[in-house]
Amino acid sequence: MPEKRRPKTLRDARTCRDLFESWDPMFSETVDRTRGPRTEAILAALGASVGQPARVLDLASGPGPVTARLLARFPGCHVVALDTDPVLLQIGRAALHQDRTRVDWVLADLRQAGWSSNLGPEGFDAIVTSLALHWFYRAELRAIYRAARALLRSQGVLINGDFLPARTSQVAPAGGPSTPPRSTPASSPAGDVTGFQQRWADWWKVVAATPSLADALRSRQLRLPGPMPPRRATGPKRPAPLEWHERTLRSVGFRRVAMRWQDRDFHVLTALR
Ligand SMILES: C[S@@+](CC[C@H](N)C(=O)[O-])C[C@H]1O[C@@H](n2cnc3c(N)ncnc32)[C@H](O)[C@@H]1O
Repeated sequence: MPEKRRPKTLRDARTCRDLFESWDPMFSETVDRTRGPRTEAILAALGASVGQPARVLDLASGPGPVTARLLARFPGCHVVALDTDPVLLQIGRAALHQDRTRVDWVLADLRQAGWSSNLGPEGFDAIVTSLALHWFYRAELRAIYRAARALLRSQGVLINGDFLPARTSQVAPAGGPSTPPRSTPASSPAGDVTGFQQRWADWWKVVAATPSLADALRSRQLRLPGPMPPRRATGPKRPAPLEWHERTLRSVGFRRVAMRWQDRDFHVLTALR
């Protein structure tokens, strides 16, 4: 690389790292206040279900905040981070460059049939997904769950940590029976929406001003036409309730479905293949 270009490249790499590092707090300090403990619960459920996983799929990974945690927690683990947004994938790729041999960044749309067909023949010990599936319609979710099950190795586990409003709660300790149901207070995913929108708009301004993200941004605009910064994913007004997810996971063949963690309407759900 020509010497003259290096400072700019380094500056861009630093910017991608800053964008990556500000992703989690942008959510956790505004609209997703349970993010930290919920991510921890995803990792704990994964460890309890499969021990040390060799291959994990992070569905709708965004720039890879959960991917980064998986790499740190499970040293022998290879992660496939899949998302439909080329900008988020590019930021993750740059920010986690030091782990590049342990991550594949895959551009795919979970709404398109066949999204799972190019992920290799090896299968996965676990599929995790965080704060993403509530944007999907029920028919789409059913298809995603069916395809996910087919990607799992035997004894594999699907773990969904998300906004899943529930009528009752039943937190199951790892490996043990569920505790009796208790009612959950109603909650809203809203939180500080104005604060989030401001930070979201600022975050995307930095993206637009970063030369090394220009190609990904152009590809995003062709792939996901819409306002910049993106306002809101399209999806149902009311996300499917927790009970619907549990029923649907069973109906597509998952054996043991259990809720592992709960804070108001945020839950971590596990489903064994
Ligand atoms: C709120 S972000 C969550 C990202 C990450 N999992 C996290 O916990 O921070 C939702 C993610 O879902 C992705 N997404 C939305 N629709 C998708 C689709 N049809 N296929 C794949 N990813 C999608 C978005 O691009 C975004 O990265």
